[in-house]
Amino acid sequence: MFEEYLTRLEQWRNENLYREPMVVSNRQGKYVDIGLKRLINFSSNDYLGLSSDQKIKDIFVRNFEKYPVSSSSSRLVCGNYSVVLEAEKRFAKYFGYEDCIFFQTGFQANLALMSTLFLDSHEIIVDKHIHASTISGLKLGRVGFKTYLHNNLSHLEKRIKSINNKPCWVVTESVFSMDGDILDTDALLRLKQKYKFRCVVDEAHSVGIMGDRGIGVASGVSDIMVGTFSKAFGFFGAFILLPHVIKEYMFNFAYPLIYSTSLPPAHAGIAMDILNIVEGLGDRRWYLKELSAYTRDCLRELGIRFTGKSCILGIHIGDEDVACKVSQELVNRGFMVFASRYPTVPRNKAILRISLCYFHSEKDISRFLSQLKDVLYEKGILK
Ligand SMILES: Cc1ncc(COP(=O)(O)O)c(C=O)c1O
Repeated sequence: MFEEYLTRLEQWRNENLYREPMVVSNRQGKYVDIGLKRLINFSSNDYLGLSSDQKIKDIFVRNFEKYPVSSSSSRLVCGNYSVVLEAEKRFAKYFGYEDCIFFQTGFQANLALMSTLFLDSHEIIVDKHIHASTISGLKLGRVGFKTYLHNNLSHLEKRIKSINNKPCWVVTESVFSMDGDILDTDALLRLKQKYKFRCVVDEAHSVGIMGDRGIGVASGVSDIMVGTFSKAFGFFGAFILLPHVIKEYMFNFAYPLIYSTSLPPAHAGIAMDILNIVEGLGDRRWYLKELSAYTRDCLRELGIRFTGKSCILGIHIGDEDVACKVSQELVNRGFMVFASRYPTVPRNKAILRISLCYFHSEKDISRFLSQLKDVLYEKGILK
């Protein structure tokens, strides 16, 4: 009855692209429990180590006691709570933008923004390694777009030169979710001043951990910024920082905003409380920077090929089957590391995505890298 689906799944499996998520029974700090096995987690985006912190749990309880647990309607009907507007104002001021809109997830934020912002008269140029949520939003919006080579601003300039003075938007990330490399904001700003385009920057993996007070790295160049609560903030939901007129426009034309139940009002209270905490975590931001530099030095010393200059590091594997086997062998040895495969990354360019968090120590890194090196030798990646 469902044979065509079984056939497609079989084909996917034969290409070593089949997915089956591990079942997590619990997670606390650096540990993740898979069945009876406790692993050190190098896959989480809980960069500042906030999500299982008792202080954050207390903030949750306090805010959820104050308000109904659901908004029970979209923002456009009766789900537009004053506490949400207060939080949006607070976030806009903190990050240095005119206004802000909260969303249920980062995926939905990008879906709403990308499907609404662009008009037929616009040229849109997007980094090739942009997140799937951005691409999904662009496809939903049905305005054609071009891509430029990943993080290659000379190629971006070539693209811009070829577009005949049409209003142009450039869409990129500040810290790339898989490669972990960082946008050259100064170079992008120089191009922006020269060619007068507008910029959307997804800062999902930099807010909270990079820039002054964790404001990210691209505020000098981005007209619109997308941030998530689901990573360094240890929480869920997302926010878009934008000009007021675009907020007004989205409330009128963005279907994922108009036709979806808004976040519970407690979420906004929690977001403001967490922002106060994040502001004071300069020591954790500094520690993460040092830990990332330490890990990169170790990887270089071991001769392991990688990308990334942030808390995210991508270890080159290539073959999808090998990537899964390396990841499984690391699980057997007590470490959770995600094998990222097509379509998340290009075909035959599978990586192990390592994310470093505040709760990792240099000792954890050394133990992990020593096992990684052995497994890479065993699988013929290191020679
Ligand atoms: C760059 C980027 N943008 C957006 C998202 C989506 O955010 P969320 O997980 O909050 O839906 C992600 C999630 O991984 C991401 O990496």
